[in-house]
Amino acid sequence: MSALDVRTFSLGPIQTNAYLVRPHASASEAVLVDPGEEPQRLLDALAALGVGVTAILITHCHFDHVGAVAPMARSTGAPVWCPEGERLVLADISSFTWPGFGPFEGYAADHLLAGGERLTLAGLDIEVLSTPGHSPGHITFAMSPSRADRDSSDESAVGLFSGDVLFAGSVGRVDLPGGDWDVLEASIASLMARFPSSTNVYPGHMTITTLGRELASNPFLGELRARTVPTGPQAAPAASASAASSSLLR
Ligand SMILES: [Fe+2]
Repeated sequence: MSALDVRTFSLGPIQTNAYLVRPHASASEAVLVDPGEEPQRLLDALAALGVGVTAILITHCHFDHVGAVAPMARSTGAPVWCPEGERLVLADISSFTWPGFGPFEGYAADHLLAGGERLTLAGLDIEVLSTPGHSPGHITFAMSPSRADRDSSDESAVGLFSGDVLFAGSVGRVDLPGGDWDVLEASIASLMARFPSSTNVYPGHMTITTLGRELASNPFLGELRARTVPTGPQAAPAASASAASSSLLR
């Protein structure tokens, strides 16, 4: 019945998407995904909405996704849930920030996630999925209003907060430390296999999309598409798996 209420904030020079997610628009608590920059802008939005933050969730620890974690945790009192394999990056983020960006403050994660966990936070059921390939510990959050608040058969209520795994018409770059195209493609395939094609994808950069739209037309998923659906004259051209997808940290 109820769909997620998702507020999007494209932050900082790399325009990284942070998301404020609630089970419905009148909920007083939210989770905050990937606060990468501009903490005051996020705090102003929280004040305007009259919303508190129950938890800060991190998909991966590239600086553009975690640069505002420390000030947001301090200001909201919310605990931070971090990919287990990248906690040392969060703790010492200044050592992993490129010249010309930041400065950012490190943060010692309150909770660690490896994938496979199920959380209930701010009235949301959250499934944690391991989706490495762009970065080694990358995780994706599959969120839906808690079962008490929706029809349990309503898969359309699920949203994937997938960081830099999959974008509208692109994929996460794999040439940074820990990146691996075959691993990333397998992560994307696992999401395609696990969730309906209509599932909304809330990526770390650029616009919202759906799994089905990307499987049908994303130029980087030609090989995955060929394995998933019969090749036909309507099929989009396959892209080289080694092609760098986009600029900067995407
Ligand atoms: Fe990234």
